[in-house]
Amino acid sequence: MAAQINPSILSADFARLAEEAKAVEGADWLHVDVMDNHFVPNLTLGVPVVESLSRATHTPLDCHLMIEDPDRWAPQYVEAGAGSVTFHAEAAAAPVRLAREIRAKGARASMALKPATPIEPYEDLLPELDMLLIMTVEPGFGGQAFLDIMLPKIRRTRELIQRHGLELWLQVDGGVSAQTIERCAEAGADVFVAGSAVYGAQDPAAAVRSLRAQAEQATAAAPWACAH
Ligand code: DX5
Ligand code: ZN
Repeated sequence: MAAQINPSILSADFARLAEEAKAVEGADWLHVDVMDNHFVPNLTLGVPVVESLSRATHTPLDCHLMIEDPDRWAPQYVEAGAGSVTFHAEAAAAPVRLAREIRAKGARASMALKPATPIEPYEDLLPELDMLLIMTVEPGFGGQAFLDIMLPKIRRTRELIQRHGLELWLQVDGGVSAQTIERCAEAGADVFVAGSAVYGAQDPAAAVRSLRAQAEQATAAAPWACAH
């Protein structure tokens, strides 16, 4: 599968969201960070903004819910128009039931792991998911430095995906840039969220294309992709 680049609108101008979404229309997905000031110490946007955004762009929405009680709220994001909904493993009371509900409502189901959460306890749940998100910063803010210590977890997750023959996308989020994207791809990621690296660039659409080219080149040379 080709590398996918998902710009995060957390780094966009929130007063001009429709224009900012249009500025990256060549991207694969638009990453929408939902924060509730409880699961993370920051507050962003909710269902009504996702509804409006889904009408304002043709790019499918990849909603990353950094909220408590996703079991209760996540299905509303599917109804609001999200094509993919990610809940956090640390916050979900019943991740299997929730993933099945998201899929049944017609979106891709995805689960995220904070840096200190290991993948191994979730090995048996992976077939229930369409994507796994490995956070490469502590969630809550854009513009943080990439955590290299997450690379072994990305590698181990890619091994699990291959061992079980799963069609699971592996997303990385946090500090992904021209300086770090190749390391992520080499380790096994195939979906890349980039906030400041895209919206901080002079030409966001060109930044998306350039990040994708870098990721695809690094993937082509990666041992995990060659063996596939
Ligand atoms: C952080 C968010 C990220 C953030 C990434 O908690 O989940 O999606 O927007 O921003 P950068 O790419 O600037 O680290
Ligand atoms: Zn995110």
